[in-house]
Amino acid sequence: MAIHNLRVVSERATPLLQVDGVSLEYRTPERIVRATHRVSFDVHAGDRFVLLGPSGCGKSTLLKAVAGFVPPSEGEIRLEGRRVLQPGPDRIVVFQEFDQLPPWQTVAQNVMFPLRQARKLSRAEARELALDSLHKVGLAGFADAYPHTLSGGMKQRVAIARALAMRPKVLLMDEPFAALDALTRRRMQEELLALWDDAAFTLLFVTHSIEEALVVGSRILLLSPHPGRVRAELNSHQFSLASQGGAEFQAAAQRIHTLLFDEPAAEAAPRARSAAGR
Ligand SMILES: Nc1ncnc2c1ncn2[C@@H]1O[C@H](COP(=O)(O)OP(=O)(O)OP(=O)(O)O)[C@@H](O)[C@H]1O
Ligand SMILES: [Mg+2]
Repeated sequence: MAIHNLRVVSERATPLLQVDGVSLEYRTPERIVRATHRVSFDVHAGDRFVLLGPSGCGKSTLLKAVAGFVPPSEGEIRLEGRRVLQPGPDRIVVFQEFDQLPPWQTVAQNVMFPLRQARKLSRAEARELALDSLHKVGLAGFADAYPHTLSGGMKQRVAIARALAMRPKVLLMDEPFAALDALTRRRMQEELLALWDDAAFTLLFVTHSIEEALVVGSRILLLSPHPGRVRAELNSHQFSLASQGGAEFQAAAQRIHTLLFDEPAAEAAPRARSAAGR
C-alpha cells in the first residue's frame, strides 16, 4: 500500500513535457538570429500552459521546437522523459491562419486524414471519430461542407476538432484566435475551456494578449523581448472569462504588463552602476 502510494506520487511529479535550457536559432546566409535564450519550463498533464510575450520573442519558434520542427541549438526538449527529435502524432499544432485546411477535402475528410495516415484507422473508424470530434466543436452539420464555405471561426473549430481527434499528448496552439473578431474570439476561448473540461487534454498555448493568457491559461510563462528569456512563471487558474474586467483580473494584467515591459531590477542595477563608473 505504502509502496503503491509512493509510486503514484513520483509519477505525478514527472512533467509531461520538459523544456530544458532551450536556445533556438535561425541561420540565414548573412547571420544567426537567436530566437530564444536558455528557456526552461515544465508542463504537467492537464495544464493549460501559456507562453506569453511580445512579438518576436520566439513563442512560435518554441512551439515549433516542441512540435519537433526546429531542433534546439542548446538544451533539450523531453516528452514523457524522451527527447523530442522529430514531429509526431503525439504533438499536434493548431495555427493562427485560417488556410490550414486543404480546400479540396470536405470538413470530415480534413479531420479524417491524419487519423487514417498517422493512426492508421479504417475509413469507418476515422469517420466515426471525426464526426464525434466535429460534434464536440458544434460542427456536426457541416461534415460534408468544403472549407471555403465556412467562416474563419468555423475553420478554426475544424482545425481544433482535427487536432483533438488525434488525441495528442499535448495540443499546441499558436495564436489560434488572433485573426478572429473580438466576439468570436471570446466565444472560441469559452469553447476551448469547455472542451478542456470535457476532454481534459494538455494544452500549450501561445498568445501575445495578456487578457487571453489569463483567461485561457492555468499557468503562464512570461518571455522577455527578442531573444526570448524567461521573465517569470505565474499561476492563473483562478481567472476565467467571467472574472475579466474585475479588480483582481485587472491587477493581475497590470502586474504581468510590468513584468513583461519594465526593465527587471536585477538587470537594470549593474548597468546603472557601470554607467555611473564611466
Ligand atoms: N524563418 C526564419 N528565419 C530567420 N529568422 C526568423 C525566422 N522565423 C522567425 N525568425 C526570427 O526569430 C525571432 C522569433 O520569431 P517568432 O516567430 O518565434 O516570434 P513570436 O514570439 O512568435 O512573434 P509573434 O508574436 O509576432 O508571432 C524573430 O526575431 C524572428 O524575426
Ligand atoms: Mg508567433
